[in-house]
Amino acid sequence: MKIPIWIVGAKGLLAGELARLLEDHPHYFLAGAVTREGSEALIHEHPFLTSAITCVAVGQATAEIERDLASGPAGLFLALPHGEAAGVWKTMACELGSAAEELAVVDLSADFRLQSPEHYAAAYGREHPDPAGDLGFVYGLPELYRSELTGARRVAAPGCFATAMQLACIPAAAAGLIAPGATLLFQGVTGSSGSGAVPGKGCHHPYRNGNFKAYSLAGHRHEAEVLQALAAYHGQELKVHLVPHSGPFARGIHMTLSLPLAGDLNAEEATSVWSEFYAGEPFIQVLPAGGSPELRWVVGSNRVSLGVHVRDSVCTVLLVLDNTLKGGAGQALQNMNLCHNLPETAGLARAGLGVL
Ligand SMILES: NC(=O)c1ccc[n+]([C@@H]2O[C@H](COP(=O)([O-])OP(=O)(O)OC[C@H]3O[C@@H](n4cnc5c(N)ncnc54)[C@H](OP(=O)(O)O)[C@@H]3O)[C@@H](O)[C@H]2O)c1
Repeated sequence: MKIPIWIVGAKGLLAGELARLLEDHPHYFLAGAVTREGSEALIHEHPFLTSAITCVAVGQATAEIERDLASGPAGLFLALPHGEAAGVWKTMACELGSAAEELAVVDLSADFRLQSPEHYAAAYGREHPDPAGDLGFVYGLPELYRSELTGARRVAAPGCFATAMQLACIPAAAAGLIAPGATLLFQGVTGSSGSGAVPGKGCHHPYRNGNFKAYSLAGHRHEAEVLQALAAYHGQELKVHLVPHSGPFARGIHMTLSLPLAGDLNAEEATSVWSEFYAGEPFIQVLPAGGSPELRWVVGSNRVSLGVHVRDSVCTVLLVLDNTLKGGAGQALQNMNLCHNLPETAGLARAGLGVL
């Protein structure tokens, strides 16, 4: 018996990606999709799908999810904008009552990623949408928090840049390689799909295609997630600076981390730190020292590829991932698999496209 899965925010870009991944998942099926209007055919919003599902509004969805839960496990993805997910989930949880406890919920927004409403307000420049609500979601980066995620019922999937940044720097923090008081410098280039389904002015094709620019130079909100993880892995105070760039492509993040080292280490020794940290990880490829990963290797897959270099006591980590998959829907599904004690790779064992 396949497990029923619901998606809220079904018209969105990541919702379409989740529905696509669910089409050939060995253990899940897409049971329903939720939009504000609640009457569109899912295939009209995402013509690449084969689904015959008609979207429903929240009230109808909760009644159907309750029925699903009465006969076994079920899952829900919240694929809503920041500031919307917490309120929608609060309404759904109220309507579901005690049945909500058994529902595996994976939120793709930032609403449950940070440990306190104060951290959220500092990073997002506005009050948390439900500061008194349940913020006890497990942070959904399986390579760091697998044991907490296994069997979890509430998961906050990380941001796309935040995923790339943490996967690049945490092995160094865990091994004590980072110079005391250092600032970790990240340069990240993202594709336009990072902005979602509806183009804003700066993301519109005529301005973005062929163009290249940096943005958020005063600080990017995903830095807060990285600082939160660094605090757990590294005893000392570190700073994190991300300079994000808009790249002229649709999918993918190319991240470059420059890290001042605490001691002498050559590229092979440094590479072995990342190789050992990620030994056995199904989605992480650590290249031999000197390797330079390419977007086309990982785009279309849940894979991450990274290379480690050392020069003049500065370690450079180059890392690539697909923001819509390992940085978004793929990682959310990886988390959902863990919630249900299923193989983490179920429905995700695809290679990169190779040609874009
Ligand atoms: N895109 C990425 O690469 C990426 C990666 C990681 C995480 N994320 C995060 O994942 C979430 C979804 O991202 P996305 O790119 O899929 O965004 P998106 O394309 O803008 O989709 C968001 C969806 O939420 C719907 N929505 C908004 N308010 C709603 C409400 N109150 N009730 C029901 N539906 C509502 C929107 O519906 P309407 O069309 O009716 O407005 C839209 O379909 C965001 O929080 C984003 O930051 C995105």
